[in-house]
Amino acid sequence: MDYKKEILKLKKAKNALILAHYYQVDEIQDIADFVGDSLALSQKAANADVDIILFAGVHFMAETAKILNPDTKVLLPDMEAGCSLADSCPYDDFVAFKNKYPDHVVVSYINTTAAIKTVSDVICTSGNAVQIVESFPKNQKIIFAPDRNLGGYVNRMTGRNMVLWNGTCEVHDILTTEAILKLKEENPDAKVVAHPECQQQILEIADYVGSTTGLLNFTRTDSAKKYIVATESGILHQMYLDSPDKKFMVVPSDESCSCNDCPYMKLNTMEKLYFALKNEKPAITMDKQTIELARRPIERMLEISKKHKII
Ligand code: 13P
Ligand code: SF4
Repeated sequence: MDYKKEILKLKKAKNALILAHYYQVDEIQDIADFVGDSLALSQKAANADVDIILFAGVHFMAETAKILNPDTKVLLPDMEAGCSLADSCPYDDFVAFKNKYPDHVVVSYINTTAAIKTVSDVICTSGNAVQIVESFPKNQKIIFAPDRNLGGYVNRMTGRNMVLWNGTCEVHDILTTEAILKLKEENPDAKVVAHPECQQQILEIADYVGSTTGLLNFTRTDSAKKYIVATESGILHQMYLDSPDKKFMVVPSDESCSCNDCPYMKLNTMEKLYFALKNEKPAITMDKQTIELARRPIERMLEISKKHKII
């Protein structure tokens, strides 16, 4: 079957919007109406005026789209597409942790379940975390969850001392400086760009640290010709589309390949997208109260992002 043709046909017939994250395989990125980072995808979902959003990403992203646009049917092609960061922060454990710090506000990364969002004061993404934290007075005590690497990075950037939940992304946390330095030795003229979910020692040797959109903007506008990319392999597709005359090398997660794939993001396939749109399932379902409570901290994030013109 020509999945591309059939998906486009169904998309038109069902008034659907296809949103994809940069970590999706190339053909899914190519068929999407919009490809972006978590912040831009949530902004798109909030403003979408369609009957169906087909979300080619992971569960917390589709859930966020549903929270922001509850009357729209939100489809996630594979419900197993989770996230190690969201999984690292179970609701009951987090509430017990939060109760130990009653005078702290909670800033949660968007890579969390809706349940965690209901007990958060504001949400952030890797694209706006510094500005979100800076929106609080300097003396405000803050819990940051669940990514200890992103939280540590924001602490260093803002001079804060936020209490960090001990979660990590299994895709970024395993990258090593050794793997980067090996690539650098072979390509001394290459610059290093890194996602803030990487460990501190990697962020310290990076020429640029930012969200997936931030990395793309940097490599498109910067003058170097070669980049060592410390994030997930999928982003190379847009990097090459944006800058076809440059060379990009992803930092390998182990010696057996030159890739670094998120196993959850890569569960989505063109076939699964086709069946999701055809059968209008699996769809994200949530109770009204969770939607209401989880929406407030996300909307607060969107307002702060708008104020700072972060898109
Ligand atoms: P971005 O918001 O930077 O795209 O990151 C999402 C993510 O899951 C990174 O691992
Ligand atoms: Fe989660 Fe990491 Fe995959 Fe992003 S790359 S979805 S943070 S497991």
